[in-house]
Amino acid sequence: MKKLSLFITFLFIQIVVAQNVTSPNNKITVNFKLDNTGKPFYWVSYNQKAIVKESSLGFLLKDLPSFDSDFELIKQENKSVDESWKPVLGEQSIIQNKYNQVTYFLHQKASDRFLNITFKVYDEGVAFRYEFPPQKNLNYFIVSDEKTQFNLAGDHKVFWLPGDYDSQEYPYTETKISEINLEKVDLNNGIALKSINNKYRVQSPLMMKSDDGIYINIFEAAVVNYPVMHLNADIKNFSFTSSLVPNAIGDKAYLQAPFTTPWRTIMISNDARDIVSSKMILNLNEPCKLDDTSWIKPMKYVGIWWEMHVGKSTWDYAGSQNAQNAASQDLIPTGKHGATTQNTKRYIDFAAKHGFDGVLVEGWNVGWEDWFGNWKEDVFDFTTPYPDFDIKEVTDYAKSKGIKMIMHNETSGSVSNYERYLDRALELMKQYGYPAVKTGYVGRIIPRGEYHDGQAMVKHFNFVARRAADFKIMVNSHESSRPTGYSRTYPNYIAAEAARGNEFNAWSVGNPPMHETILPFTRLLGGPMDYTPGIFEIKMSYYDKSKKEQVHTTLAKQLALYVTMYSPLQMAADLPENYEKYLDAFQFIKDVPVDWQESKYLEAEPGDYLTVARKDKNSENWFLGAITDENARQAKINLDFLSKGKKYKAIIYQDSKTADWKENPMSYEIKNVIVTSKSKLMLNLAKGGGAAISFEEIK
Ligand code: NOJ
Ligand code: CA
Repeated sequence: MKKLSLFITFLFIQIVVAQNVTSPNNKITVNFKLDNTGKPFYWVSYNQKAIVKESSLGFLLKDLPSFDSDFELIKQENKSVDESWKPVLGEQSIIQNKYNQVTYFLHQKASDRFLNITFKVYDEGVAFRYEFPPQKNLNYFIVSDEKTQFNLAGDHKVFWLPGDYDSQEYPYTETKISEINLEKVDLNNGIALKSINNKYRVQSPLMMKSDDGIYINIFEAAVVNYPVMHLNADIKNFSFTSSLVPNAIGDKAYLQAPFTTPWRTIMISNDARDIVSSKMILNLNEPCKLDDTSWIKPMKYVGIWWEMHVGKSTWDYAGSQNAQNAASQDLIPTGKHGATTQNTKRYIDFAAKHGFDGVLVEGWNVGWEDWFGNWKEDVFDFTTPYPDFDIKEVTDYAKSKGIKMIMHNETSGSVSNYERYLDRALELMKQYGYPAVKTGYVGRIIPRGEYHDGQAMVKHFNFVARRAADFKIMVNSHESSRPTGYSRTYPNYIAAEAARGNEFNAWSVGNPPMHETILPFTRLLGGPMDYTPGIFEIKMSYYDKSKKEQVHTTLAKQLALYVTMYSPLQMAADLPENYEKYLDAFQFIKDVPVDWQESKYLEAEPGDYLTVARKDKNSENWFLGAITDENARQAKINLDFLSKGKKYKAIIYQDSKTADWKENPMSYEIKNVIVTSKSKLMLNLAKGGGAAISFEEIK
């Protein structure tokens, strides 16, 4: 154990500079000091180069003296940890958790209050959090704001989302830090809720790259009982300050000591692959709290879903003109309702025929006539099916075919209502054998004034996952706050959307081709995403000649996404009839696993490209996905990840020579080659394209 610090005493001023901590590989160093007013600061270097310059730490507490100065350092404790753990589902079967740690124990002199700050330094980054230890002068208290600074050393390239308290469903904007300005972005792009009152506020995870090629990512881990951290940019000084999402009356967090805040994380590397493959966020969460996890299973699913997004059918049974009758069964059907018993059986048949695990059905329950735009408190009861959806017949049929049904609970933001019904909703799932639920939070939160990213909602999302675990049900949340690794603690929180998903391509300007090359560096660091890939009919004019919308992709790229977008819950999102037309390409979706032994990030550049190879959890087979942005590129792949001395049949699904996301998106070719670990492959990716490969061991 290292002993306390070095005291530098000048004539009248005393600055306390504590001993620094380095990463296990010695590349990252964190320093900590108290200045002459007792204000805490930290700074971070990578290979001796400043990454985060002196940045202040602390809080503003409501009705109490500010908690960011007048501190003295009482003691410092160091430790080193090197352990490993096994995720229930994951990108790899074993995760190493290796770091050097230091805790600074601080005492605020005048107020006689205590604050501890712990830093963990990993090979790929730094994490720190505040702890309010039990103490007599600080029991129940209100955080007016957290004042954590990230004072960066340069005007880096940055991929940012507007700091909307209610939604992350935006495309990324790529600029310099000095150019961040929400006024430059079309905030009407999509269904964003625009809870925005600061043109320099952005969201985390924030992915950056310095001019000299250092990748830096600011995020947070283990957001539990605390609001989401957004970031206020000081664009002149390349500095960000934490901006906690408020509640309805502007308070940030109601806390009771002892309390530890989420971890603030800064990932740093000169190799982008270290960031995209990092397990730091998961590592910073509490270990699994469930004794029995045998019921948590990966799932590949199809569902009555895309057909509503493309306008072929509707969620509602009777059309919104019947909204006033929505609660009664006296509805006049429009004839376009998607979630009928018959249609569900069609999806079940398709799922069973092609080896899927599950079927999701949206629009099965009463209320959809009235769900959008009115933002009423009582819209859904989560238990009453429409008259043309026979829940018993459907679930019996699914069971006879070995298919699991996925429940859908859209709340339309009415959280008070959902909490009232939650146990009844979960009981219904248990009664009919649904192992998973997809939740949804479209619209403003009811009660009014709460934001999707505020403390109350963070608690709600985590509570639903915990309560569902009591019923042995897995949760996939849409429009929730973005995950920060809670799936380590509650692995039944199997996936979330919490970013702009593929659905936006059906009915908005969509997601530019670079979108999927950024998400793994941002949203996916916190946990799996239900992106809903696998769209084969790419242009919406297929459904309606007048439509201009399209998925910004080639067909081959849609296959690659099953590998590049890690999730143990993965949808084949297109319609059965579309897959039937391209069964040779569909074979990849049938073959690709969703739970892995090992993952190797072969090539990575945020905003440009990503190539990942993963080994199936239950066999010797490998799968590879390579994607590019709007630029065509050649991916040169060394197959040395394959087991030495083994032979594999590689089935390569790639863009044809004339493929192009805009002009010719559905043109692909499939070829078979025999390869070994000594082979190399050259993949030609079209503009907005990709390639997918399955490597089957030849025995
Ligand atoms: C938005 C979700 O992201 C989408 O998947 C769902 O279909 C609709 N809400 C309706 O719940
Ligand atoms: Ca959504």
